[in-house]
Amino acid sequence: FDTEPEHRPLFGKHVLVTAGPTHEPIDPVRYIANRSSGKQGFAIAAAAAAAGARVTLVAGPVHLQTPRGVDRINVESAREMADEVRNALPADIAVMVAAVADWRTKDFADQKMKKRGSAPPALLLEENPDILTNLSAGKKRPTLVIGFAAETQDVIENARSKRKRKGADWIVANDVSGDVMGGDLNDVHIVTSRGVEDLPEMPKDQVAYALVERMAEALEKVHE
Ligand code: CTP
Ligand code: CA
Repeated sequence: FDTEPEHRPLFGKHVLVTAGPTHEPIDPVRYIANRSSGKQGFAIAAAAAAAGARVTLVAGPVHLQTPRGVDRINVESAREMADEVRNALPADIAVMVAAVADWRTKDFADQKMKKRGSAPPALLLEENPDILTNLSAGKKRPTLVIGFAAETQDVIENARSKRKRKGADWIVANDVSGDVMGGDLNDVHIVTSRGVEDLPEMPKDQVAYALVERMAEALEKVHE
């Protein structure tokens, strides 16, 4: 991007990104998690900062370096992530890349659960808040709300219905039936109200730059 900060495409904008998995505690030593590496979300935060934006990155537990120029807030659980997303508003663009755990345990055990020779404990689950849906429906809705959808089948169809159901402007869909999770390449499809744009498979940081370019264009159109 341009060497002059004020000429960069997202100069003066606030971009909010969520990334990584969440951990839902079962007891003091155990949790429910998923395979998200956080790489794609961190790459988007880095690209948005390079494009001149002020970036808030709400990150689940991952061992990744904070990109240059990014304000990072670490969280563990979905409910903490929801709180920090709310605290970070207002924002011009929100990109919800995190693989938020869908369920948490209903009762957190204060002490480590023990076997004691008895039957395995039953884990009762309850649903976590949907951060993206609440953001889209909220009073402080960012101008551009973008969700991600990792799917193992019917990728585009699922993304289309998710876009509507969650009130997002775009859903960036990726097929995770291969070894995308944790890898450095990504193959994404941008689903908007106007159709689907298929990007070629490329490194996650290049996917991030391509998305950031399109975000800046979309914001400009809104403000025309
Ligand atoms: N998402 C969120 N809060 C949740 C669950 C999901 O903000 N509790 C966001 C994700 O960050 C992502 C988008 O919603 O941007 C889609 O997530 P996904 O897991 O694909 O959607 P779900 O509605 O949870 O559907 P599924 O049953 O396919 O997991
Ligand atoms: Ca989910």
